[in-house]
Amino acid sequence: MSDAPKRDVHNHLLFEVATEVAHRVGGIYSVLKSKAQVTTAEYGAAYTLLGPLNRGSAATEVEELTPKDPALLETIKSMNERGIATLYGRWLIDGAPRVLLFDTKSAYGYLDEWKGDLWSVAGIPSPPGDDETNEAIVFGYLIAWFLGEYVFHEKQRAVVVQFHEWLAGVALPLCKKRRIDVTTIFTTHATLLGRYLCAGSVDFYNNLQYFDVDAEAGKRGIYHRYCIERAATHAADVFTTVSHITAFESEHLLKRKPDGVLPNGLNVKKFSATHEFQNLHQQNKMKITDFVRGHFYGHNDFDPDNTLYFFTAGRYEYRNKGVDMFIESLARLNHRMKAAGSPVTVVAFIIMPAQTHSLTVEALKGQAVIKSLHDTINVVTDNIGKKLFERSLLWHEGMDLPEDKELVSPADKILLRRRLFAMKRHTLPPIVTHNMANDSEDPILNQLRRCQLFNHPADRVKVVFHPEFLSSASPVLPLDYDDFVRGTHLGVFSSYYEPWGYTPAECTVMGVPSITTNLSGFGCYMEELIENAADYGIYIVDRRMKGVDDSVNQLTNYMFDFTKKSKRQRINQRNRTERLSDLLDWKRMGLEYVKARQLALRRAYPASFDTDADEGDFFGTDSVKITRPLSEPGSPRDRSGLMTPGDFASLQEGREGLSTEDYIAWKLPEEEDPDDYVYPLTL
Ligand code: UDP
Ligand code: G6P
Ligand code: GLC
Repeated sequence: MSDAPKRDVHNHLLFEVATEVAHRVGGIYSVLKSKAQVTTAEYGAAYTLLGPLNRGSAATEVEELTPKDPALLETIKSMNERGIATLYGRWLIDGAPRVLLFDTKSAYGYLDEWKGDLWSVAGIPSPPGDDETNEAIVFGYLIAWFLGEYVFHEKQRAVVVQFHEWLAGVALPLCKKRRIDVTTIFTTHATLLGRYLCAGSVDFYNNLQYFDVDAEAGKRGIYHRYCIERAATHAADVFTTVSHITAFESEHLLKRKPDGVLPNGLNVKKFSATHEFQNLHQQNKMKITDFVRGHFYGHNDFDPDNTLYFFTAGRYEYRNKGVDMFIESLARLNHRMKAAGSPVTVVAFIIMPAQTHSLTVEALKGQAVIKSLHDTINVVTDNIGKKLFERSLLWHEGMDLPEDKELVSPADKILLRRRLFAMKRHTLPPIVTHNMANDSEDPILNQLRRCQLFNHPADRVKVVFHPEFLSSASPVLPLDYDDFVRGTHLGVFSSYYEPWGYTPAECTVMGVPSITTNLSGFGCYMEELIENAADYGIYIVDRRMKGVDDSVNQLTNYMFDFTKKSKRQRINQRNRTERLSDLLDWKRMGLEYVKARQLALRRAYPASFDTDADEGDFFGTDSVKITRPLSEPGSPRDRSGLMTPGDFASLQEGREGLSTEDYIAWKLPEEEDPDDYVYPLTL
């Protein structure tokens, strides 16, 4: 797309553009944050993330700096002079990447002009009253403005710009129209239509090829958003997505076949002692147990040592995240455990932010009652200790030790009784921790009601809906999300629509087994990679070939079988799960990003490359590297000789749609004792 092939492609610069830079909404934040370390190791100061400024989160996540790059300095200065407020600094995460955040509010004066321009240059309408789209337009125009000025000041080095998701995609058609001398990648993490269609009651996967996309978008009032997404897809030099399943969806809904798949990785932190993560499990499990004791006060008739913690978590997308199926399966599990006389209790948590007013009095009271009990018991035991000590001082041969009942004074007994009475309860332990803004219409609460999961003493499955993301500052469940996950036994993510799905991947690297589905990018990825995935704590529910009822039964069976495992079996399984983490490390997954950038550079500056090389194999082979990843992983055992994540996850040009031949599956070796097993992929 450039007339000036003189830019230095070898020492190129990289910008990544997204709305979740230093601001958590969902999984894209996890992509950027966890990938930062490998990307800064590769690019150093040549890497900058661009995002909208969210003052609340930037205050805690970003440390302000003065840019050193003269082109950056000039560009920011000129934008500031024209009234655009920015924040440049370091994102305070592993890798400490540089970020440049634009205050979109300072640019709203241009909104109408830019909306008009978007219509005339790209034919994209922007009806009034859609704040999210207005925000995307302002942000997109600021990015295009920034890039245009930046390459005017920086004339030596090539510039690769990678955009994530439609909300950050408005600048793509603008870069193309204005012929800004950059090369672009658009990575979609979902499609708008996919998310909307799946949230309804459409048989999505069997009809993907047949949707009238414009009409469907129109019916849902998202035609203009869809136009932005589709324009971004087609304007980019390279188009990618996060999984094979979303590649297939994008091809049909966005009408461009992705050039490759960039599966999501994680920043895997290895402990020097392998049992360390098991200790963390135990410590955090105790904290969850503290919460459970408070929440179920007056009904603590189940043994903590025979209690398992299951959970699901994520943005509140009831059907897409499979919460409907999870609750239905919990009801069936409850029935089966009761029928089998199981000694185990399952406490199932649902962590999904919804509109709430506050924590309920009951939830706060539960924790307070247990805390008072703890305090009182401490006083009583202190008194017993003192009494025992004083008696012991008087002891002489022939004297008896004091009787137990003499040790607790009548005053202490009264104190204790008062606490015990405070724990009496005439209602069942609540199923939700907060006052909901819309209690009677909340889909999760209604499904729990329909399935009669009310925390009855006879129930073997108890439920706690926590309609807020977790935080260690909570007075009720004071744990950060990661610590909570470590303390649980099983994550359940029965998604219907899930382009990747970080939540089960995060479980894996923390050594927590999880259940996912073959409609999630992560589930498909693991299924293709490991043949005996269940042994490694990766259970995959078939939601593709089975009917809903059969899928629910399969999920119930997985959970029921899990409740029958002994403690030893659970410990062994956690060890195996944790050993899979190297498979998900960005040190390995990041290779696909390297390839995408190379392809973008080749497409924009073909004269700088050996023209004989075949572009069609780009994501299928390990070809010329312009930049080097942090460390190149050794190949696991495979059948073909070549192995990078993209070899089995990518669509290759010249092929039609999804095909199992695109995958190269490999087996984990047979093993006798999982504890003795050393994983081959050590980096
Ligand atoms: N998450 C969180 N706090 C919570 C629950 C979830 O920070 O209490 C994070 C979780 O760690 C994950 C992200 O939310 O990284 C959800 O990403 P995912 O890819 O699973 O779904 P998305 O929301 O992007 O559809
Ligand atoms: C870890 C700890 C053990 C503990 C076990 C509990 O492995 O290192 O000390 O006994 O967790 O496992 P469970 O599956 O019962 O929570
Ligand atoms: C999207 C998808 C999720 C994916 C995340 C990161 O929000 O819903 O499945 O994990 O992006 O790619």
